[in-house]
Amino acid sequence: MSAKDVIIALDFPTKIETLAFLDRFTGEKPFVKIGMELFYAEGPEIVREIKARGHRIFLDLKLHDIPNTVKRAMAVLSRLDVDMVNLHAAGAAEMMRAALEGLTRPDGTRPLLIAVTQLTSTDDTALKNELLINVPMAETVMAYAKNAAGSGLDGVVCSPLEAAKVKEVCGADFVTVTPGIRFADSEVGDQKRIMTPEKAAGAGCDYIVVGRPITQAADPVAAYARAVRDFLGK
Ligand code: C5P
Repeated sequence: MSAKDVIIALDFPTKIETLAFLDRFTGEKPFVKIGMELFYAEGPEIVREIKARGHRIFLDLKLHDIPNTVKRAMAVLSRLDVDMVNLHAAGAAEMMRAALEGLTRPDGTRPLLIAVTQLTSTDDTALKNELLINVPMAETVMAYAKNAAGSGLDGVVCSPLEAAKVKEVCGADFVTVTPGIRFADSEVGDQKRIMTPEKAAGAGCDYIVVGRPITQAADPVAAYARAVRDFLGK
């Protein structure tokens, strides 16, 4: 079975705010997610700096390009010593296999490679009228997940509500990384399909990605501890 953990989404615009937030964590170093905003603002140095502080890193850059370009870009990301990266499954199998090749380090190790299926911001209307995909969203998501698994990827980003189905279709060891997590008493914000850490634990989620319920909490360290306790039962 895959490992389970809580990943904090570091959705901050600058290095100063990000490091000030991380400075609060004086004990255990949480697994963190760096997205496009922070990476494009601060460059690879922010990844090196956070890694040097002892955090595991999910670099959420969602690559999608021709296979050769993705392979070479993945090789660069792999050398940053990150622990998890992702791409769009819409790039198709050849791109996904090239990504895996690029990611694999000379010693045979590599970060986990996770696919984005359909963005949660895409609805059924856009799927049909703009992307010209005449298959319902749920079926499209599972077909993309299956293609990712068949291409050798480790897992997908999905809603906690889809995690059990993904495991059914792609196998129990296929990793599910699930945003859309809220404590029972959290503000929901713009997330539509949400689940508590406790429920996510029983719903087939391997990694929960938690942003605002931790980053905007009055006491982020306590909120993180609560998420870990609820999700991992410790
Ligand atoms: O603040 P919140 O907990 O909603 O943050 C969730 C994180 O997961 C954000 O970084 C967001 O971009 C990301 N995410 C998401 N839904 C997806 C894919 C990624 O919320 N489908």
